[in-house]
Amino acid sequence: MLKLTYHGHSCFELEADGHRVIVDPFLNGNTHAKVKPADVKVQAVLVSHGHGDHVGDAVEIARRNRCAVVANFEIANWIEGQGAESYGMHIGGSHTFPWGRVKLTPALHGSSLPDGVYGGNPAGFLIWMGGKCVYYAGDTGIMSDMALYGRLNPIDLALLPIGDNYTMGVEDAAEAAVLLGCKQAMPIHYNTFPVIPADPKEFLRRVEAHGIRGRIAGFGETIEV
Ligand code: NI
Ligand code: MN
Repeated sequence: MLKLTYHGHSCFELEADGHRVIVDPFLNGNTHAKVKPADVKVQAVLVSHGHGDHVGDAVEIARRNRCAVVANFEIANWIEGQGAESYGMHIGGSHTFPWGRVKLTPALHGSSLPDGVYGGNPAGFLIWMGGKCVYYAGDTGIMSDMALYGRLNPIDLALLPIGDNYTMGVEDAAEAAVLLGCKQAMPIHYNTFPVIPADPKEFLRRVEAHGIRGRIAGFGETIEV
């Protein structure tokens, strides 16, 4: 059984078989987050790209938990420079950790780190835990590659940004879910800031018209994948 806890924006935890990881741990400054970095108990921190609303509290959480930040090579190096452990990967590559398997996927976006350092290409993640596959798109526009990744890696749940402006909006995100061929789709990266307003129910209406189950998790809510 795989459980997902949503902390708002693009931050979520996955838990299965006694293992727990957090993705894009933007907690300080995220008004929707109900937990603080000190509350987070995980075996890994995954970071999709260098922007502050994704790197977030990764260094503090990794140091407190004595665990690694999993990210692309450039961000992994930067994390080491901040005094935390890292595990570097890159797009198209996968690795099996004690808690599950991860593959980095492409994202169409930027990736400069908070201090301006180059963060390499932005990424998304395919994550296998508890017998399920979760696809987290990261910050990205829609791209036809999604169909290929979905065909090669059957997806139980896709987490897709819908806030528009910096990423896909509702219409493109719903079409991305169709391209991915995922069983379920959940909207993320919206309503955190005034510039990314979106209606998650409109996203659900659109994906459900294609036979995809729409999921919405409240802030701090845990759902079963
Ligand atoms: Ni970004
Ligand atoms: Mn973002």
